[in-house]
Amino acid sequence: MRDLVQRPEGTASTHCTAEQYDAMYRQSLANPDAFWLEQAQRLDWSTFPTKAGEWSFDPVDIAWYSDGSLNLCHNAVDRHLADNGDTVAFIFEPDSPDSPSRSLTYRELHSEVVRMANALKAMGVTKGDRVTLYMPMIVEGAAAMLACARIGAIHSVVFGGFSPEALAGRIEGCESRFIVTADEGLRGTKRVPLKDNIDAAIALLDANSPVDGVLVIRHTGGKIAMQDGRDHWYTDVASDADCPCVEMHAEDPLFILYTSGSTGKPKGVLHTTGGYAVWAAATFYYTFDYQPGEVFWCSADIGWVTGHSYVTYGPLLNGGTSVIFEGVPNYPDHGRFWDVIDRHKVNIFYTAPTAIRALMREGNDWVTSRDLSSLRLLGTVGEPINPEAWRWYYEVVGKSNCPIVDTWWQTETGGHMITTLPYAHDMKPGSAGKPFFGVQPLLVDNEGNPLEGAADGNLCITHSWPGQARTVYGDHDRFIEAYFSTFPGRYFTGDGCRRDEDGYYWITGRVDDVINVSGHRMGTAEVESALVLHPKVSEAAVVGFPHDIKGQGIYCYVTLMEGENTSAALTAELRQWVRKEIGPIATPDHLQFTSGLPKTRSGKIMRRILRKIAENDYGALGDTSTLADPSLVDRLIEGRQNR
Ligand code: WT7
Repeated sequence: MRDLVQRPEGTASTHCTAEQYDAMYRQSLANPDAFWLEQAQRLDWSTFPTKAGEWSFDPVDIAWYSDGSLNLCHNAVDRHLADNGDTVAFIFEPDSPDSPSRSLTYRELHSEVVRMANALKAMGVTKGDRVTLYMPMIVEGAAAMLACARIGAIHSVVFGGFSPEALAGRIEGCESRFIVTADEGLRGTKRVPLKDNIDAAIALLDANSPVDGVLVIRHTGGKIAMQDGRDHWYTDVASDADCPCVEMHAEDPLFILYTSGSTGKPKGVLHTTGGYAVWAAATFYYTFDYQPGEVFWCSADIGWVTGHSYVTYGPLLNGGTSVIFEGVPNYPDHGRFWDVIDRHKVNIFYTAPTAIRALMREGNDWVTSRDLSSLRLLGTVGEPINPEAWRWYYEVVGKSNCPIVDTWWQTETGGHMITTLPYAHDMKPGSAGKPFFGVQPLLVDNEGNPLEGAADGNLCITHSWPGQARTVYGDHDRFIEAYFSTFPGRYFTGDGCRRDEDGYYWITGRVDDVINVSGHRMGTAEVESALVLHPKVSEAAVVGFPHDIKGQGIYCYVTLMEGENTSAALTAELRQWVRKEIGPIATPDHLQFTSGLPKTRSGKIMRRILRKIAENDYGALGDTSTLADPSLVDRLIEGRQNR
């Protein structure tokens, strides 16, 4: 096969060779309890667990390490102080390259986290409380996550790009009475009005879900309103008082993270303490083959799970050095990523295919003009990577001597699930590779029949793993419905996937009504609900279509209320409306007005047809005979926007 790229040779300190992988993978399936109890030794426990997995997918009930107890902040920060207090934990690279960057040792991070934890306590936060974090990519964001973990509060990080409306839903959804934010964020030349958005979100909340405290970090110094009694400047309430780590049961909740599904509102995916920590620590260690002293940079925002597991927890649980980058790839110019790597001598760089494609398009000079010789390993995450972008990343960025790990996983999986290991597996551009330890993928056809060998099907996982989400916060039925009902007894990922003759997995994309826009997960139903909230809109159907840079773009079909007229102005208004309801990442790329949506006689929208038209591939629409109004199809094709 032409597309096999040989792995580099490892060194004596390589964590996993080909032989080790085979043996360990086999052991992880044959005796998962022994395997995961051994992996649990990566952490310091107050009480070491005697049990590993106790789970069932039917009925759905998942626990790991249930009789163990530990504190995650202790593991990420405090335990490194004795021997590695002077090791750099975080390198902060600000939005503007002209502003100073900042390094924090583990000792300095410890002080920051203690101050933050005391500030939370001063507002009244106690164990089990939910705390919403709405932060720019600054050290205080990660410190706030760790501070919550320290005192046993449950963090719910909401990406700073979400609108007040979306934010309000996520505050209300988990009845969070406390918020940590900053005055403003910076993204390139733009200021993000974080505190103003918080105020707007709180104004939208139901009177019986009040917010008691808002902790505000002064970042840009921009002017904001502070409400007496509710809003507190961080520096006013922070203190250096002793603040011990609270002992937590392994199954105590650690965080909630909202993510989109194929139906309804975003789900608050819940992760617990012990299993998640083992998963974040072990995947970081093996996938990146992390070596002490190396500088690791994951470009994701802490508002996504990638930022949770590979900006904050994974690196720190391994005593590593992690870069926190506030800016964007194209400011002040298209060489910014490569500048950051050059400036901080980054050894391991982990980013999304959409960023790679966007930078590839700007030409090689941006890359070759920087010294990237510190790089040892590259990673991608978030969506399938097309082989051209893979090649460019490998050859131009990695100079053909850095292995690439293409890591497939999800918010719900807590960390990597399918990926090559850099010194154990040869690479195939576009394939995520092999299952991580303990992960048992199963491909099934649409009826749920298992497919053996080389096959193409729906990707399920048959056995629980420590990092698995335990529930949807406050709605276990929804958890069961979303992940365990399509193929009973199995965790269904929502992804389509092919397994080749070598046992490599190739993710083919979502098979449900979720689309992946620039590596961000978006429920088409969410965009539809936003559209129909507009008084002039009667019905909406939203589908994804292939987009050169974003991977997928958002295509909306809209029918208007009786008597309303279509216009370019209304198109612009509706695009703006969706931005306001959800956030800029949900901005429709195309919006097509139509007199009706293609429905079956029983009223079900035929999305297959809408997808084909959005893809500009209307030659093969398949069977349209079940449509209530077959003539509609020609009118839809006629009015298509993606030409
Ligand atoms: C969905 C999960 C996990 C962190 C980022 C996204 C897609 C993720 C890959 C990959 C192909 C991928 C899947 C998955 N996805 N990584 N390496 N190759 N597809 O997390 O928002 O929970 O989205 O992202 O479709 O289901 P998320």
